[in-house]
Amino acid sequence: MTGGAGFIGSNFVLQCIAKGETVINLDLLTYAGNRANLIEADREACHIFAHGDICDAAFVGALLREHHPQAIVHFAAESHVDRSIADPGAFIRTNVQGTFTLLEQAKAYWLELSETEKRNFRFLHVSTDEVYGSLRPTDPAFCETTPYAPNSPYAASKASSDHLVRAYFHTYGLPTLTTNCSNNYGPFQFPEKLIPLVILNALEGKPLPVYGDGMNVRDWLYVGDHCSAIQTVLENGRPGETYNIGGNSERANLDVVHTICSLLDELRPNATIGDRRTLVQFVPDRPGHDRRYAIDASKVARELGWRPTVSFEEGLRRTVQWYLENAHWIENVRTGAYRDWIRQNYEERIAQ
Ligand code: NAD
Ligand code: TYD
Repeated sequence: MTGGAGFIGSNFVLQCIAKGETVINLDLLTYAGNRANLIEADREACHIFAHGDICDAAFVGALLREHHPQAIVHFAAESHVDRSIADPGAFIRTNVQGTFTLLEQAKAYWLELSETEKRNFRFLHVSTDEVYGSLRPTDPAFCETTPYAPNSPYAASKASSDHLVRAYFHTYGLPTLTTNCSNNYGPFQFPEKLIPLVILNALEGKPLPVYGDGMNVRDWLYVGDHCSAIQTVLENGRPGETYNIGGNSERANLDVVHTICSLLDELRPNATIGDRRTLVQFVPDRPGHDRRYAIDASKVARELGWRPTVSFEEGLRRTVQWYLENAHWIENVRTGAYRDWIRQNYEERIAQ
């Protein structure tokens, strides 16, 4: 797998290890990659960490031949929309060039396999619902045939990578699978994304920055459910197909923020801070901010029997509890690089 030191990837590593599977984890350890996410995994011989870049063809090719994997699960990406607005180049490099390099190396490796190994090999590409663009309030949810209409540099780079994956199946027969999922949340998420950012700020009584009017809607998918969907698609998905993965939990951002406030007021009341909802601060909107995402996950349910099992309320409670119990992890990720980003993205917004 690639990107296994990031948020979703590290959750996936733990799931694989629990199933007794061997995982070769290729990760560049960018600001979003964190070795501390893998402390538990590192205790197991079946987790092998490889520090490297998916854009490095020679490194990827050598790694494949050294370990002879049965499948590649590709998580590695630049993943934060706001950063893609500030610095799109990094997104083109990793998400487009990196996926292309990985596909080239995967194809060369796959062509050397025996006929049985070739048939059983899978390349699973983890992508996003953001490739489909933005929905109006009454539009039907995104399904696998919804036309692509990416709006941010992040979404455009992921859409490009999806198209490359599709082309490698159609042109070369590489047995690919693509999953397009909604917003994940849960343990180990880097606190630049809405949910962990709000948990940490609310805990300390800092302003809770809500972009625009707070009425943008996202579908929220608990990371454990997402990882089980990836396993299901990897084991039983049909090569060449794409599967939409969602949590059946559409919420407006302001509702998400309010729910986090209520949970923290209950679990960690603080007389000085008081009612945490008063910390909400509406700040200037993200440019090109998509209004609504929603996922129709009926194909993966119908064909492969996968459904989300964790409700948003339950998943959010688990997530808040995890951040409360992992103060050390939080201190660890709040490095200079994190502080620089918070200053760059919020200082001017909050001052307005
Ligand atoms: P993340 O940003 O937390 O982690 C990305 C990981 O990739 C990091 O460990 C980083 O070090 C690694 N990486 C980055 N560039 C690399 C490179 N050039 N070579 C090797 N490793 C590199 O991301 P995430 O939230 O865990 O997302 C994982 C995947 O899921 C991404 O492809 C993302 O587009 C997709 N996705 C995420 C969400 C979400 O809500 N987080 C939703 C839909 C889809
Ligand atoms: P985010 O977690 O960045 O995910 P994505 O942009 O991939 O959906 O943002 C989720 C929603 O929350 C999105 O509509 C933007 C909004 N948001 C805020 O209102 N304030 C913030 O500080 C952040 C980071 C996001």
